[in-house]
Amino acid sequence: MTAELHSRRTVLTTGAAVAGAAVGAVALTACGSDTPPSGPAAAAPGETLTALSDIEVGQAKAAKTADGKDVIVTRTAESAAAAFSAICTHQGCAVVPDGAELKCPCHNSIFDAATGAVKKGPADKPLPSVAVKVTNGQVVTA
Ligand code: FES
Repeated sequence: MTAELHSRRTVLTTGAAVAGAAVGAVALTACGSDTPPSGPAAAAPGETLTALSDIEVGQAKAAKTADGKDVIVTRTAESAAAAFSAICTHQGCAVVPDGAELKCPCHNSIFDAATGAVKKGPADKPLPSVAVKVTNGQVVTA
């Protein structure tokens, strides 16, 4: 009886794994392009992205360039900021700030909010950086 019970559990577990894989395949398809974006996230210089005071030190905030590109602005120090493309290098979903990390809702990649580096895949390339400077308390593209 124990062996039979074990066998049933194995079948149930395997079935759940197959169902999980199917859900993953659907998520992949729903994510859009199979070609991840590459290269720097260009933004015209002099665009104000956000006020530095809107972000706590060590945290990040989503913003948009004037032409509608999604970027992430991170306050790396009291008076310093960094910015990155918000487009995940895996398959192009928009990452979301979560404390000192940027999380991709599509396949759960995690990036370092201060550097854009990959902390957890499936993404294997860092988020392209966007050159910014802090001018009069505003984070401005450089
Ligand atoms: S698009 Fe797949 S992890 Fe971001």
